[in-house]
Amino acid sequence: MIKKKIKIAYYSGTGGTSRAAKYFAIAFNDDRHKIEIQQINSSTFDINNKYDLLILLYPVHAFNAPRAVYNWISHLEKVNNTPAVVISVSGGGEIIPNTACRRSSIKRLEKKGYTIIYEKMLVMPSNVMIETNETLARKLLEILPKKVFAIVEDIKKGVIRRTKPFFIDKIFSHIGEMEKFGTKYFGKKIKYTDACNGCGWCVENCPAGNITMEEKRPVFSNKCHMCLNCIYGCPNKALVSNIGKFLILKNGYNLKILENMGTLRETVEIEKLAKGYIWSGVKKYLLEDRDK
Ligand SMILES: Cc1cc2nc3c(=O)[nH]c(=O)nc-3n(C[C@H](O)[C@H](O)[C@H](O)COP(=O)(O)O)c2cc1C
Repeated sequence: MIKKKIKIAYYSGTGGTSRAAKYFAIAFNDDRHKIEIQQINSSTFDINNKYDLLILLYPVHAFNAPRAVYNWISHLEKVNNTPAVVISVSGGGEIIPNTACRRSSIKRLEKKGYTIIYEKMLVMPSNVMIETNETLARKLLEILPKKVFAIVEDIKKGVIRRTKPFFIDKIFSHIGEMEKFGTKYFGKKIKYTDACNGCGWCVENCPAGNITMEEKRPVFSNKCHMCLNCIYGCPNKALVSNIGKFLILKNGYNLKILENMGTLRETVEIEKLAKGYIWSGVKKYLLEDRDK
């Protein structure tokens, strides 16, 4: 039997999207599919895009995809109607202005000859500006496999799912793209404190290749995507930013800690915990799941 080749390409800063990508690989793992999984960073490109289905995943950054994703798409060879699935992962869910977040990447993929057959937003705990309530964050992690398995089931059945962008999406999409200039500056302004022991974790785990080691201390360049992984992930909590401090969660961001708390025993009062417009996308996402 000829196996269908599936390419799963994902960008992830702090690990939410990489978890989703891994569940996609698990869900497709059977004797009819051959899976290739690739993490996108500033130096990974797809040199041989001969597969039957592309699944592209990325976190929403300022209502768009991170720069590395556009860069990765720009290096793809042209194809003739290869089907593609675009999955965005956000902290806020499918609400305006996030609804703009797949527009630019889809346009770029279509220019390369891909046919988008399915697009959807997954939700993970927010890693920027406003922290997701801990119980909701645990719930989001808990239901991620179920959400991914449901998408894969749809894809296997041939369900086509496209969302229609609102006019306002275009405006937000353009506004959000301006963040790309700010991210470079943000990266340049990251500093290490006395807590730094030169372990090199930040260098090894920066998807932008923005950090190098000089005299056993990190040096930050202007290639930052502002994924915040270095700041949250530093084992010694030794990195700080001189600008955009409001963007960084004061309690940090660590999905492993939430996962280690185990399964939620009580029924989560989603309506009570996800109040107001900014959490309305998260509420909808979690309640959708409850209805199934
Ligand atoms: C610079 C930056 C911008 C972000 N912008 C948005 C946004 O516009 N909308 C949103 O809902 N979440 C936003 N987020 C939150 C992330 O999309 C979310 O936490 C995601 O799960 C992170 O995925 P990762 O862990 O794979 O990096 C942003 C995060 C960062 C770091």
